Amino acid sequence: MDHFGYRDSVLHCEHVPLPEIAAAVGTPVYVYSTATFRRHAQVFRDALSAVPRVHLAYAVKANPNLAVLRVLAGEGYGADVVSAGEMARALAAGMDAKDIVFSGVGKTVDELARALDAGIGQFNLELEEEGEVLGMLAVQRGTAAPAVLRVNPDVDAGTHAKISTGRRENKFGVAIDHATEMYARLAEVDGLSMRGIAIHIGSQLLDLAPLEAAYERIGRLVADLRRFGHFISRVDLGGGLGVPYKPGDAPPSPADYGAMVARVTRDWDVELMFEPGRVIAGNAGVLLTEVVWVKPGAVNPYVIVDAAMNDLARPAMYDAWHDFAAVRPTGARMTANIAGPVCESGDTFAMGRDIDHVARGDLAVFRTAGAYGAAMASTYNSRALVPQVLVDGDRFAVVADRVGAETLIAAERVPDWLR
Ligand code: LLP
Repeated sequence: MDHFGYRDSVLHCEHVPLPEIAAAVGTPVYVYSTATFRRHAQVFRDALSAVPRVHLAYAVKANPNLAVLRVLAGEGYGADVVSAGEMARALAAGMDAKDIVFSGVGKTVDELARALDAGIGQFNLELEEEGEVLGMLAVQRGTAAPAVLRVNPDVDAGTHAKISTGRRENKFGVAIDHATEMYARLAEVDGLSMRGIAIHIGSQLLDLAPLEAAYERIGRLVADLRRFGHFISRVDLGGGLGVPYKPGDAPPSPADYGAMVARVTRDWDVELMFEPGRVIAGNAGVLLTEVVWVKPGAVNPYVIVDAAMNDLARPAMYDAWHDFAAVRPTGARMTANIAGPVCESGDTFAMGRDIDHVARGDLAVFRTAGAYGAAMASTYNSRALVPQVLVDGDRFAVVADRVGAETLIAAERVPDWLR
């Protein structure tokens, strides 16, 4: 459920009509609903109420905007970060370093050192050598780094290949068959304080079965590790829960997910950690855009909007579907292709889709764009970096500026020899 809806035939975010935001900020622009973020944060937490010890670490990559992080910090969430940049954001948003988990397959030595200095609560190790380096850095600082080992359970998440992470051939985690020996070696490394296991098998999962299979494997691994005398106090179950993007999508509800987790992990006796991203942010945002032209096409007309693949990359990258809706629908429909202004055919949001009838100058939205939308935006074609607005009840604020060509050009240099 989200807080975007029609009132007097005009699409609103909470109590703010979207045309008001377009007039004040221009388009394209991401619009986020505070109430939706809060609701999703609460629903996810409530879904896990049967689990005794839970730590919630919002996956910053889904939507790293500072104001969004601030809302989630207010809901008691920590953060899952994958770079020093994301760590800086989580800290700047007021999250406690102890509540931050540092994941990622390519943490640099410098990033590890900075995270140690910041007092990050958990390092999710991806390989043995990383653990050795982290231990050495911790010893130099007279401390011990709290760490878990990310395991690759070799489970097919059944999602898009580019966002599947738990198959043997993926770059993430260590093979579950080698996890016991590797854990034993890491447990001996000075400066490391090994606490348990982490997994994350993929994103936009529409079925609980692969998650359950992966969790069961992890349960057996935890029991094995304990049999060998290892101390296991945490298991990080990652993120991955899908959201509905198009009519007919039926992802498992957070409640179903929570019930499965409670059942599978009943005897684990650990603190369970979660890294939800999309399920918190997805439906909390739309990309508001204006129709630039309606251009006749070979089969269907092209609705050319002022948002493009640089603003919302998901359709071009993953063939993802984002619902398209007019801000002031008339009731009339049309079959059209929807595309942006960028100079490649991949800059197409939909082909031959039945949509609200729109004409030049009309406002429309791509829905479910709160996760991996602005987060993945670029300035390709020297288009401005898309701005972001946060709505709260009847007020709204620009929470990320439109960064235009002037600013981007000002950060570039022409060397002396070319002057
Ligand atoms: N934890 C780890 C270690 C992850 O790699 C991810 C996402 C998450 C948590 C959060 O997963 P979520 O709950 O959001 O599914 N750009 C792609 C999604 C990439 C996801 C990468 N990892 C997209 O737009 O679909």
